[in-house]
Amino acid sequence: MTSIPLVNLTRQYERLAPAVERAIGAVCARGDFVLGRAVNEFEAAFAAYVGTRHAIGVASGTDALHLIVRALGIGPGDEVIVPANTFIATAQAVWSAGAMPVLVDCDERTATIDVSAVRAAVTERTRAIIPVHLFGQPADMDPLIALAADRGIHVIEDAAQAHGAAYQGRNCGTIGVAGGFSFYPGKNLGAYGDAGAITTNDDGLAAEIRLLRNWGSPTKYVHSRMGFNSRLDSIQAAVLGVKLPYLDAWNDRRNQVGAWYRQALAPLADRLRPIEQGPWTSRHAYHLFVVRALDGGRDRIVAALQAGGIGAGIHYPLAIHQQECFQPLLARKPHLPAAERLASEIFSLPLCPELLDSEAERVVDTLCSVIAKIPATVHAGR
Ligand SMILES: Cc1ncc(COP(=O)(O)O)c(C=O)c1O
Repeated sequence: MTSIPLVNLTRQYERLAPAVERAIGAVCARGDFVLGRAVNEFEAAFAAYVGTRHAIGVASGTDALHLIVRALGIGPGDEVIVPANTFIATAQAVWSAGAMPVLVDCDERTATIDVSAVRAAVTERTRAIIPVHLFGQPADMDPLIALAADRGIHVIEDAAQAHGAAYQGRNCGTIGVAGGFSFYPGKNLGAYGDAGAITTNDDGLAAEIRLLRNWGSPTKYVHSRMGFNSRLDSIQAAVLGVKLPYLDAWNDRRNQVGAWYRQALAPLADRLRPIEQGPWTSRHAYHLFVVRALDGGRDRIVAALQAGGIGAGIHYPLAIHQQECFQPLLARKPHLPAAERLASEIFSLPLCPELLDSEAERVVDTLCSVIAKIPATVHAGR
């Protein structure tokens, strides 16, 4: 039997191939490979889609966050609060700017940043908070914005997994001072290589980021400040321009599969519990469908699923403070029980717009038979 990958990029490419190849061919024919027409067109289209005055294409989602932090003037001696349960890039982007990432715990039910933990972590050095719209679900933004506004702190959205998601009717990427998006190939809107973008309504910040991404250069060979080479590639912009019109329909399909998975897994609720949807989420982007194995059997479940041809994944097996690269930065080991618990319990089921109903059914059937064979070691009381 064929296996079901976590994300089926080949199937999407087969459907879009003629349009994608035409768009790439047009860039090649024009020869405007760097900051060319496709970049301008995609930036305008993405800004209109998200609903911000500006979208600035950069080389990756990591660079998007790094350049936002830098452009806000945050650096050595400053602290930026980030959740401990995120992809490493959120924290490394802060470190790249020379600032200190301060790791806080998450709300175990929704896996989004814990607002009370943020409040407790604020010091006189705190310059920004980076909530992550993890797995495609917005973080609870209003309390964070209120907390930050009182103290003159910036809120930067890590929207790398949340293209098209909305918080109480407001699109992710429009709520904080700026949003950082990733177009890594497996994302809801994915390029054919690394790519990213920053959205903002702040004209000054947008201008600063445009300088920083291009060696601090307002005019060719004139450099007003130190900067970086971090531009969105024209070929990637052309691919993204072809895909963007499909994003809402793709997210609808992700939501359909997500809702179906929730329903199909409900009978296993004493052993498996999907990450919950917060009441503030008006549109989930379902970048990933993440389930908690409540009885300690996660690794056995994932191994058995993979052996059965189901491309289950773990996002992420270690919280940031458990990563080796972070040990030198930690004066003492933080106690972040929810992030640690999730890291040991969660696994992700195949989910992409191209997933067939029959494949989703096979995923659940396989999961049910795997669960039946693995004895529950701990009874779920949570
Ligand atoms: C939450 C989060 N933040 C940041 C990034 C970094 O994006 P990129 O891989 O495009 O650098 C990613 C994805 O990789 C991510 O999932």
